[in-house]
Amino acid sequence: MIIAIDGPAGAGKSSVARACAKKLGFRCLDTGAMYRAVAWLAVQQGVAVTDEESLGALARSASIVFLHDEGDPVARGITINGHDVTKAIRTPEIDKAVSPVSAAGPVREAMTEQQRRIGQGGDYVIEGRDIGTVVFPDAELKIFLTATNEERAHRRVRQNADTGVGSIDYAEVLADIIRRDEADSSRGNAPLAAAADAKLIDSTGTYIEDIIENICVLANLARADGKAR
Ligand code: DC
Repeated sequence: MIIAIDGPAGAGKSSVARACAKKLGFRCLDTGAMYRAVAWLAVQQGVAVTDEESLGALARSASIVFLHDEGDPVARGITINGHDVTKAIRTPEIDKAVSPVSAAGPVREAMTEQQRRIGQGGDYVIEGRDIGTVVFPDAELKIFLTATNEERAHRRVRQNADTGVGSIDYAEVLADIIRRDEADSSRGNAPLAAAADAKLIDSTGTYIEDIIENICVLANLARADGKAR
């Protein structure tokens, strides 16, 4: 069974996806980390973020591996071509590079193929931007998680302060969130959008625990529905 959790940056997708996966006994796939890893590789190799063909070749040949602790459905890290980039993909430099890299059609094709291959292997909570619309249009449950720009910026600042990675300047983070939403929503390839059959959840001013509980209830209903058919 696939649970797709899409939405803009900072809406709480990662925390919600991880907690739901743990509660439900599903694995969890962070597709944004895959695009970030490809962006990191492009920057390392000096490939221009506008060179779609070279980016596509890079993405197709890249070996992306999620690192899991024994028995933990949530990855603790990610490698690309053997480099552990768990922290390196969360820097402001990669925040900027990842929008154009993820807008490149050949990159999206390569990532979509890998994500489908991974997701076909079992029960997954998959978070991203186009999971319910493009990658798994038949996902049994689709969630589109949003929050106001200001709330998302505050959360990102707190998260960056906790991890010690990324900017903690509120105005800078807010501007970056708005810029990235605009880029993700207006691109021609698989833009950020809610699937017609997605459940819209606004996490502004809401306890994250309530959202997790809500999604787990929906997941159990969808699972029961699937078995009944
Ligand atoms: O979720 P995130 O902020 O780590 O995602 C990083 C970037 O990758 C984001 O700018 C949009 C892009 N992305 C995408 O285009 N499609 C996905 N399924 C996941 C992320």
